[in-house]
Amino acid sequence: MSEPLILGIESTCDETGVALVRGDDLLADRTATSMDQYARYGGIIPEIASRAHLESVVPALDSVLEEAGVGLDEVDAVAVAAGPGLVGSLTVGICAAKALATAVDRPLYGVNHVIGHLAVDKLVDGALPDRFIGLVVSGGHSNILLVEDIATDVRELGGTLDDAAGEAFDKVGRLLGLPYPGGPHVDRLSQVGDGDAIRFPRGLAAGKDKERHRYDFSFSGLKTAVARYVEGAHDRGEDVSAEDVCAGFSEAVNDSLTAKAVRACRDTGCDTIIIGGGFSANSRLRGLIRERAEAAGLTVRMPPLRFCTDNGAQIAALGSELVRAGVEPSDWDFSPDSGMPLTQTWMAPASALVDEGAA
Ligand code: KG4
Ligand code: ZN
Repeated sequence: MSEPLILGIESTCDETGVALVRGDDLLADRTATSMDQYARYGGIIPEIASRAHLESVVPALDSVLEEAGVGLDEVDAVAVAAGPGLVGSLTVGICAAKALATAVDRPLYGVNHVIGHLAVDKLVDGALPDRFIGLVVSGGHSNILLVEDIATDVRELGGTLDDAAGEAFDKVGRLLGLPYPGGPHVDRLSQVGDGDAIRFPRGLAAGKDKERHRYDFSFSGLKTAVARYVEGAHDRGEDVSAEDVCAGFSEAVNDSLTAKAVRACRDTGCDTIIIGGGFSANSRLRGLIRERAEAAGLTVRMPPLRFCTDNGAQIAALGSELVRAGVEPSDWDFSPDSGMPLTQTWMAPASALVDEGAA
């Protein structure tokens, strides 16, 4: 018998994503983004993002149903991003998902979109390994997760103490006068710069911090070092090579991310690293993690670029894992959780939590 058909809806930030997944196969997916509206503000405006979701969600749904050649009544379960993200944005997707699941009387799963960033890889590279280290890197997160079971057992080994990797890239982009969001621009310049020309500091890499924060990151000191370097050069009337600054900065961020992900694998006996999130589009991260994983005899899996930014496929992919694991659907009245913990894969119903408490 074929696996259930899962409809996934994502609206955590500026992307509206809708997708259909059956098992490990993607049938159709659509993503609309309101990012082009934020360049002049230098950041996302939640009000504009929510309105854009309202306008995009139904056309995206119609389009995936048509592409997959299925009717809404053929959907077996609905999964929707419940967090982390912007409350207004999340609310639009959650309301749509609740309405659709009610209309066809199917179970609803409110899922963690960050864990979805890892689950989406199965749609490209096949079934997920039994256990693995997840490195989730985005504008809001930089975390190392030990995934024992993507549906039911995700543990947080470490994370950033200050800025997320994407956020640090965006800030350095702003410092260098690059357009918002700066991450992809800094990446582009870094590819033509010399990564060894300027040596920027690695956070939490020495002394007591090295052990105390074995799997944690800190990028704010690095960002300050970049700012000082640029200001110092200006004061001395020297030219600054934006390419070399970007390359040196990118090297420092990616050195920390990859070294700690490999260390987490070694410590836990995992043989696979999966990376995900908007920052996993970064060219140096992709190159360096491959290099280091290979040297350590590890397998590294990374979604293609179109699945790095937020999308509906990641939500449907995680939804299908929850259905496979046989967990209880969410209650109908769950609310968005802008700070949903990374150890919480889905909005478990109150009844399941009571059972757990009693056990
Ligand atoms: O996961 P995402 O789409 O949104 C959330 O933050 O949840 O990630 C967006 C972040 C932004 O900070 C953006 O600048 C960064 O990922 N980013 C990149 C690259 N592509 C996107 N940063 C560095 N290099 C890139 N190629
Ligand atoms: Zn995301």
